[in-house]
Amino acid sequence: MSFKTLRITGIALIMAAALGASFAIAASAQASKGDAAAGKAIFTTKCVACHKADGSGGMKLTGNPTPNWKDPKVWADPKRKDDAYLRDCITNGKIKSGMVAWGSTKQLKPDQIENLIAYIHTFQPKKK
Ligand code: HEC
Repeated sequence: MSFKTLRITGIALIMAAALGASFAIAASAQASKGDAAAGKAIFTTKCVACHKADGSGGMKLTGNPTPNWKDPKVWADPKRKDDAYLRDCITNGKIKSGMVAWGSTKQLKPDQIENLIAYIHTFQPKKK
């Protein structure tokens, strides 16, 4: 590869990175590696009103009620695999049900959302 090609590749990579940053709203499909303890602190202030401190939910505003994260059936739903669905909900909300779009409105940063996902998993019943 010539120097020129390398430079063009470099510029393309930088542009891709910049685009990636502005499209960060598109939720990734990886399982969260967040910090549950840090997530708990946010959850306690911003989420308990609708999701309850124990994650059992059941609060209905309009549309769907908040899910019961203590129910294994909720977790059996294949769309929750790899946290993509949780990440998308926290990022883009479920406006019709009253779930806030925390990420796309910049109220929470992506790493805070990862921490919340990790914390939400602590409600999930352990597999026997
Ligand atoms: C004003 C009430 C309200 C607040 C505050 C709220 N949520 Fe929600 N949330 C909802 C509702 C209602 C749903 C169900 C949406 C649906 O299924 O249509 C929901 C769904 C979700 C889901 C999808 C869960 C699933 O398993 O189906 C996640 C994840 C979530 N909320 C996380 C959070 C987090 C994290 C916070 C705090 C930063 C938060 N929510 C604050 C109302 C709220």
